[in-house]
Amino acid sequence: MRLLVCGGAGFIGSNFVRERVRDHGDAVVVLDKLTYAGRRENLRDVEHEFVHGAIEDPEVVTAAMEGADAVVNFAAETHVDRSIAEPDAFVTTHALGTWVLLEAARAAGVRYLQVSTDEVYGSIEEGSFTESSPLQPSSPYSATKAGADLLVASYFHTYGLQTLICRGSNNYGPRQYPEKLIPLMVLNALHGDPLPVYGDGMQVRNWLYVEDFARGIGHVLAHGAPGEAYNVGGPDECPNIEVVQRIIELTGADPSLLTFVKDRPGHDRRYSLASEKVRALGWEAQVRFAGGLEQTVAWYQDNRAWWEPIRSGDYRAYYERQYGSRIAD
Ligand code: NAD
Ligand code: DAU
Repeated sequence: MRLLVCGGAGFIGSNFVRERVRDHGDAVVVLDKLTYAGRRENLRDVEHEFVHGAIEDPEVVTAAMEGADAVVNFAAETHVDRSIAEPDAFVTTHALGTWVLLEAARAAGVRYLQVSTDEVYGSIEEGSFTESSPLQPSSPYSATKAGADLLVASYFHTYGLQTLICRGSNNYGPRQYPEKLIPLMVLNALHGDPLPVYGDGMQVRNWLYVEDFARGIGHVLAHGAPGEAYNVGGPDECPNIEVVQRIIELTGADPSLLTFVKDRPGHDRRYSLASEKVRALGWEAQVRFAGGLEQTVAWYQDNRAWWEPIRSGDYRAYYERQYGSRIAD
């Protein structure tokens, strides 16, 4: 199969491309804008064609889609804290970008899979969201992702475009940019820096190993019913404070580095997905959180060359903006 993978130079996209080329022999064209989160380095060991461009650029998109059997769209701004500070790029990429991709897919008659998130349902104190739960997003990140999902659904209903949506829970694993909880805490622990836990640290996330999500997306692409959305949740949930305590144990860091800091505005308390629908297609998560976290910490310990250029670049300015006053208060 020939795939156009948008956002394939990021964390989940690059894991997906690696899996498709290695296990399925797919020919892959990656279209990526290379924002701060996208890196050619992530695909160094994988055979692929690369197009540097934005999904909101119709000319680039139309050319990149030529000959594709399917489009898988990972391209997004993905960090909730950045969406609170600067929502502009979230609107451009998720609303305009998704629309441009859908128009090109419609013109070319190409199957379209949108990679989405559990955050579109909002927070849930108990129980789990199914695919028919209402969308009640809380942040500019999740609201624009929900808008993109609705646009995708409208192209199925209105134009008959063959669409699919995969809503994943919190991913973790190799090559995740260290603005997200797990890689940020691992790298801070390895450097003896404070481990900034927002609020009371009792927010709960449903952890999914990135290779399991990549397989799930491939599975939905092959077996999903057009027009449908599929939740892809992880096997274990865990409060943030316990995640950080486990990272302290795995890295041997000083427990006094754990620092409670000012909470994220509008912070969602708990995410939880019911994944029976994708399980009925034959997908199952294979990596439990305890083992996956251990593997992930080991990957960051063994791959300094991957993260050293990030920690010494623009990331420092971002970190100061996000955490300077939070940690000082
Ligand atoms: P990431 O931030 O690591 O990567 C995003 C990629 O998209 C980068 O390579 C970036 O350069 C590219 N990109 C951004 N804007 C673009 C644009 N306008 N045009 C082309 N390329 C652009 O993100 P990730 O964590 O790998 O997430 C990938 C997708 O999965 C996103 O759609 C996200 O909403 C979704 N998702 C993420 C998680 C998670 O826990 N990380 C969970 C569920 C769903
Ligand atoms: O649920 C899926 C979503 O997971 C994806 O759609 C998003 O792209 C991805 O960023 C992620 O969103 P979260 O907000 O859940 O992830 P994040 O890693 O930013 O934070 C996880 C939890 O940890 C959250 O409750 C906030 C908290 N946190 C985060 C950071 C970065 C801290 O306590 N301290 C921190 O420094």
